[in-house]
Amino acid sequence: MIDNLDIYNFKEDEQEDDREIISDLQNSEQKKINSKHFYDEKGSRLFDKISELKEYYPTRTELEIIEKQKYSFKNNLPSNASIIEFGSGSNKKIKKLLNALDKPKEYISIDISYDFLIVNAKEIAKKFPKLNVKAICADLYQLGSISKIINENSQKIGFFPGSTIGNFSENEAKNLLMGFKKILGKNSFLIIGVDLRKDKKIMEKAYNDSKGITAEFNKNILNGINKKIGSKFNIKNFEHKAYFNEKKKRIEMHLISRQNQNIPLKDYDLKILKGESIHTENSHKYSALEFEKLALSSGYKKIDFLTDQKKYFGIFLLKVLGN
Ligand code: AVI
Repeated sequence: MIDNLDIYNFKEDEQEDDREIISDLQNSEQKKINSKHFYDEKGSRLFDKISELKEYYPTRTELEIIEKQKYSFKNNLPSNASIIEFGSGSNKKIKKLLNALDKPKEYISIDISYDFLIVNAKEIAKKFPKLNVKAICADLYQLGSISKIINENSQKIGFFPGSTIGNFSENEAKNLLMGFKKILGKNSFLIIGVDLRKDKKIMEKAYNDSKGITAEFNKNILNGINKKIGSKFNIKNFEHKAYFNEKKKRIEMHLISRQNQNIPLKDYDLKILKGESIHTENSHKYSALEFEKLALSSGYKKIDFLTDQKKYFGIFLLKVLGN
């Protein structure tokens, strides 16, 4: 037992989730799988590997920004605050942030991958013994249930790094930002990482790495789906594809079927034609101005904008305008 760690599990109704997976796969216009299903234990480990690849610049660049511009966090954000990380993943960024802030008093870590969440929360609780740590296993779509656990009185700083906001459509991103605002409350802050639009070749390389880790990550979603709904996808029959969709300003990841196939899904077969795709992820790339506008229309004001020399990645320090 660790004295300064509390654990909560709010994982959503599995049946509801299974129904959504099946109806997305049956979608006659475009078969798809929600990218949240990437993050089972193996998927979270693979994503960690991606974040260390030379082609995948976002993680390294964001870490460098936090390190080099740490004074901005201390100068602009309150002392003794509760830090709420939405979709925590690995600990590298939060450790840097906790060290940059003035006397943070509580750290609330929210993630969908239970095992990963607990290992990471334990590490933080041990490394920062004065910090109150709460680990909450939940989906970012279910934030309503979380508000009950969160202390009303402390001043809050939300943390949403990694450009995970890019994995949502603009509408969803707006709803998510508004949802964060409800949890954070008036006069609180949000630190959010955003991958900035740049030369298409650089963006496409980041999702087509030479070691094939992103391809493995993309295909692994099918293993996770097999475990979840009892389907029989064979990852060998799919190819990884990732490209920048200029019109929609996003990287899209797909799994392309190498042959005509019938996939046993619960009680019927799903037909997939040779060359047909299952759309697994969108990763929207914003300009700094576009994102600032999105934040403003969701009820936040920009306090600071931090970026690297090449302007590959941006960290926005936002303040909640009112509820
Ligand atoms: C978690 N998310 C911000 C990553 C991204 O870049 O959109 C997920 C990822 N997909 C492929 N590589 C990394």
